[in-house]
Amino acid sequence: ANERTLSIIKPDAVAKNVIGQIYTRFENAGLKVVAARMAQLSRAEAEGFYAVHRERPFFKDLVDFMVSGPVMIQVLEGDNAIAKNRELMGATDPKKADKGTIRADFADSIDANAVHGSDAPETAQVEISYFFPALNVYSR
Ligand code: CMP
Repeated sequence: ANERTLSIIKPDAVAKNVIGQIYTRFENAGLKVVAARMAQLSRAEAEGFYAVHRERPFFKDLVDFMVSGPVMIQVLEGDNAIAKNRELMGATDPKKADKGTIRADFADSIDANAVHGSDAPETAQVEISYFFPALNVYSR
């Protein structure tokens, strides 16, 4: 089905100057960038975005990292976009990510893991609305 997913290029990958290389992977996989903005997240924004992880031991490190520099935030649209983006990203821990995935090629650690992508249709909807309130999807 045609879907939308939220993608974030994290501070490590922005600092490595690989936004374009990552966008090329999205495009080559048939995913279209339909909204995008660069942002320096505040602590409150990062904490709100990752609120589901609030009780996890890695929460503070995650927030510290996400506010450590600018991020590139985009909505990707295409057939099966959520799963397709997760395939392109590879496993959360770059040490476990398959060869040729974004995390295997650009990530350094489970915290500095280059990209975020929504994990399900429900979270995609919430995450897209969080950063692009004008793009709320009401049609499905
Ligand atoms: P992301 O997909 O952005 O969602 C939450 C992030 O927390 C995850 O990527 C990782 O960068 C980070 N993280 C750090 N430690 C862990 C862990 N043990 N399990 C899952 N995510 C972790």
